[in-house]
Amino acid sequence: MTATTGKKPTRAVEIFNLVKEYPNPYGDDFRVIENFNLNIAEGEFISLIGHSGCGKSTVLTMLAGLNEISDGGIIVGKKEISGPGPDRAVVFQSPCLMPWMNAFQNVMLGVRNVYPHATKAERKQIVEHSLSVVGLGDAMKKYPRELSGGMQQRVGIARAIALQPKVLLLDEPFGRLDSLTRMELQDVIIDILAKEKLTALIVTHDVDEAVFMADRCVMMSNGPLAGVGEILEIDFPRPRNRKEVFLDPMFFKYREHLLAFLEQRAPIKSGSRTFANGNTMGFIDKKGADLEAAAAEHATSVA
Ligand SMILES: Nc1ncnc2c1ncn2[C@@H]1O[C@H](COP(=O)(O)OP(=O)(O)O)[C@@H](O)[C@H]1O
Ligand SMILES: [Mg+2]
Repeated sequence: MTATTGKKPTRAVEIFNLVKEYPNPYGDDFRVIENFNLNIAEGEFISLIGHSGCGKSTVLTMLAGLNEISDGGIIVGKKEISGPGPDRAVVFQSPCLMPWMNAFQNVMLGVRNVYPHATKAERKQIVEHSLSVVGLGDAMKKYPRELSGGMQQRVGIARAIALQPKVLLLDEPFGRLDSLTRMELQDVIIDILAKEKLTALIVTHDVDEAVFMADRCVMMSNGPLAGVGEILEIDFPRPRNRKEVFLDPMFFKYREHLLAFLEQRAPIKSGSRTFANGNTMGFIDKKGADLEAAAAEHATSVA
């Protein structure tokens, strides 16, 4: 957190009683998120982790203003959001660049929309600065087909920070990259956040990434009716040195904590399970914790 000691951090984002309902194939509302509450301080980096399908992207896209909020609300700065805005920029897994535009033109596309009154020279400077920050200062004229996956994602990151947002939202941004590129880009993001003093939220299912990058890891419970299950504060100083962090015994403790949370809630597909007393029980789609409860109930009913 960037907050100075003794001073209360300014709140950048407040998510209160957030609810999301999607219509199911029968036209009924299916509640995916229920009472999701989270405050994010200015300059804080949050990682949001949880099982696939629990609703991480749903929360992120609602925060981005790209997905309608069913109930509750989100305040960014001091204003409740009602749609997308230049105060929030998103980086998705795939940058979806315009293939007929070079890196410079792809970044300029968004800048032109957000700064219609800036001069041509000002806009050029913003684009060039963003591309240099992500290490593409020498590749501005390259087209997507000439760029590796990692470089394309760098353009995606440049495009997001060129909007000079207050909050950067990242939805599994390194999911399609090899582990070396992934590490490089994690460092790029960490550097940018430190330099540009942004608040950020990254959705990831990579436990190491969640711990290494964030100030707090927010663990989501499983859906439907998913919310914040637990929050783990990561107490490594910044700037973080990857080698030091990965060798720190606390890193393993944090990692274990997240893994235990996820394991306990691992979705179990339909099948059967034999319990200690020798009884076998069939089940469909029970989550770990529910299964234990069902097992206990079953054990007493057959005792
Ligand atoms: N547009 C949609 N319409 C209906 N259901 C959706 C839609 N988007 C997501 N869902 C459902 O909402 C749940 C959460 O999805 P999502 O937020 O993408 O999860 P995650 O990002 O954690 O994998 C899933 O069950 C998914 O099938
Ligand atoms: Mg997702």
